[in-house]
Amino acid sequence: MSDRVNFGSKLGIVLATAGSAVGLGNVWRFPYMTGQNGGAAFIIIYLGCILFLGVPGMVSEFIVGRHSQSNTARAYASFSSNKGWGAIGILGIITSTIILGFYAVVAGWCLYYLGESVVGNLKGDPAFVQSYFQAFSSDPVKPAALGVTFILITHFIIVRGVRDGIERASKLMMPTLFILLLVIVGASCMLPEAEKGLEFLFKPDISKVNGDVFLSALGQSFYSMSIAMGCICTYASYFSKSTNLPNSAMQIGVIDFFVALLAGLLIFPAAFSVGVNPDSGPSLIFITLPNVFQNAFGDPTLGYIVSVLFYILLSMAALTSLISLHEVSTAFLQEEIGTTRKRAAIGVTVACMVIGVICSLSMGAWSNVKLFGMTIFDTFDFVTGQLFLPLVGFLTCIFLGWFVPHKIVKDEFTNMGTLRNGTLFHFYLLLVKYVCPICILFIFLHQFGLI
Ligand code: PHE
Repeated sequence: MSDRVNFGSKLGIVLATAGSAVGLGNVWRFPYMTGQNGGAAFIIIYLGCILFLGVPGMVSEFIVGRHSQSNTARAYASFSSNKGWGAIGILGIITSTIILGFYAVVAGWCLYYLGESVVGNLKGDPAFVQSYFQAFSSDPVKPAALGVTFILITHFIIVRGVRDGIERASKLMMPTLFILLLVIVGASCMLPEAEKGLEFLFKPDISKVNGDVFLSALGQSFYSMSIAMGCICTYASYFSKSTNLPNSAMQIGVIDFFVALLAGLLIFPAAFSVGVNPDSGPSLIFITLPNVFQNAFGDPTLGYIVSVLFYILLSMAALTSLISLHEVSTAFLQEEIGTTRKRAAIGVTVACMVIGVICSLSMGAWSNVKLFGMTIFDTFDFVTGQLFLPLVGFLTCIFLGWFVPHKIVKDEFTNMGTLRNGTLFHFYLLLVKYVCPICILFIFLHQFGLI
């Protein structure tokens, strides 16, 4: 497949992949997990997970994708005569399609909150903001329609192709996102009593650290770096042969970590300045923060501006991740059915819309419909996040560490020996052969109460 398209530049590669990694996981999930798991101690453990598990995991997917230059299913199958390995890729494709459906629903919430902050509807006491969110998320039409809108925006970027669509959108949105983030962090850290939030973020409380904290940090690092869903592998199939894979993974890991940290620096000082405890869990962004924005900034105009900018930031972060999720299945359909990119994208868009609408309804009108005792939304989240994600991550490490000839892995890692990073390669191999699979196995068994 030598005529395959590529990303046009090194910057494009880093920004597009960082766009996949930086998402709701950084701005929404990471802060509330930090809030629940003891602040700074969690952050230090999380950084360790990014460096020693996330980065090697990303390098592994880079190797599979770039070596094969094809969609995820074919990529895994291309290494060995045993085509059964292709199943890892297929699992990644299924996971990314399902996640795309429900990620779009949450992205739709962000879009709604953006619109509502622009028109100034998010004003009221905490009880009002809470009932406002509950009424909205269980509405049968609005969240589903907004999720569908988000999928359509993603669709129109995807059909423009890898360079004109994905790369261009990432080059535009990622720098904007960084600037917005810095502006809001600045505003938040200048608030009175902001130092309490900073202390919470930077002063480790070792007493909070237990096995669960490690496992949460590990799961979050994989999710946040978009590992095990085919996204990284698919993007890497558009990398040039001269891309330095370990360096790029490190850069993306560092960007991803700092964006999460900055999101914490945005939320905690503001929350502490109005005496709100930031451990409220998933509702942090949609219930706690609108209140915080209203009350933290003495000047209502400033509160208004910060709130609008924040929801723009959140929507953009979600969009760049959705693009990468969409690309996994689009590339798969296009190459395996041999159809046009446009048709493949339409197929994926329609499938994701159906999944999105079902997920959205399961928060309201269909909340009584249960699969395995959970709502459909929770079932999808469980199957993808707790079953498929660790499974694909585990199998990818085992595959590269134990089955693919080391020469192939080394050639990709060192760009055919031109990079002089042979020592680093041995360290990488050690992590991928032993450390990563064992850690993933731990999370997997622990979440089912088996250890
Ligand atoms: N990494 C994204 C985030 O932090 C989520 C994601 C996972 C996106 C997997 C694509 C693939 O929000």
